[in-house]
Amino acid sequence: MSAGDPRVSDPQLADPARSDPSQADPRAPAPTPSASTGASAFPASDATPGDRARESAAPTLPDGGRRVRAAIRRALADDRDDERPDAADPGPAEGAVIELEHVHLGFDGRTILDDISFLAMKGETIAVVGESGTGKSTTLKLILRLLVPDRGCVYVHGREIGGLSFEEALEVRQQMGMVFQGAALFDSMSVYENVAYPLREHTDYEEEEIERRVREKLAFVDLDPDVVMPQLPSALSGGMRKRVGIARAIANDPRIMLYDEPTSGLDPLTTGTITRLILKLQRELGVTSIVVSHDIRSVFRMASYVALLYEKQIRFFGTPEEMAASDDRYIQDFLGGF
Ligand SMILES: Nc1ncnc2c1ncn2[C@@H]1O[C@H](COP(=O)(O)OP(=O)(O)O)[C@@H](O)[C@H]1O
Ligand SMILES: [Mg+2]
Repeated sequence: MSAGDPRVSDPQLADPARSDPSQADPRAPAPTPSASTGASAFPASDATPGDRARESAAPTLPDGGRRVRAAIRRALADDRDDERPDAADPGPAEGAVIELEHVHLGFDGRTILDDISFLAMKGETIAVVGESGTGKSTTLKLILRLLVPDRGCVYVHGREIGGLSFEEALEVRQQMGMVFQGAALFDSMSVYENVAYPLREHTDYEEEEIERRVREKLAFVDLDPDVVMPQLPSALSGGMRKRVGIARAIANDPRIMLYDEPTSGLDPLTTGTITRLILKLQRELGVTSIVVSHDIRSVFRMASYVALLYEKQIRFFGTPEEMAASDDRYIQDFLGGF
């Protein structure tokens, strides 16, 4: 594994603004000659080496950075782990924890997903991104088997889940922790009862064991159990509610975590906290995660691979670094605000 390997993804490395000098906003005015010689409006001592590199690099990129991106792509290709199986190949891929294979799904005759294939190997975080309405939440519902594809297969740990009975599907679902859009807590229940809920539903633990676990999970998400356990969700901030939602999702020690827009509606600081928490789950517990998000900054920090949905299909699948290096106009526009 090299330092550039996304699975050891150092947020610094995954940050395209750092790894790809061509990511400077192309719409920004070109630096003036005086800026590139260091005689800018800012004292020279304020410029970091990175700033100076960008300043001197910018005028030499008349092609809008295409050559730089191509060079990065070649470097990444040399590094590429060719052992990774292809989700489109028939049958469950060896070692895949979650796999969608040629999945088609429509509602009322309207196609939403048209031949979707991707997979997550153990410990990977796959970010599913795309504009609103492209089928991201639907994809999570397929993995939870709340929906069944019209055609194609969904495998969880190599087992096709489309044909499972209701009870078998419940069993599969129990291996998964789901963090819903919004926090989706039970408003009339205390934080303690919210986190204890899946334990009461799915285990025969004594109260003592339930409390031990509730405390452990709240501490994991950096909440003080003694403070928050008796509180109602309405007494908490949005970020704290989101953390309780994560504590509840991990109560049963799931091996798979699914997140639907875990940072939407949160301020940047809280977004950073939640992003770090998802990384912590990935690194310390080795869970396999699918994260639906349109927050590209947090996606680039946590994703092993990004799947971009566009017009019913996967327009792009690759590492954040590969995505940043892509010449695809739509991808560049999609990342534009970043
Ligand atoms: N149960 C449903 N019945 C009919 N249409 C649905 C249903 N669920 C989702 N859709 C439609 O499918 C499309 C994708 O929805 P969704 O997966 O929620 O998008 P995203 O999460 O990417 O914003 C949307 O056009 C939505 O209106
Ligand atoms: Mg959605």
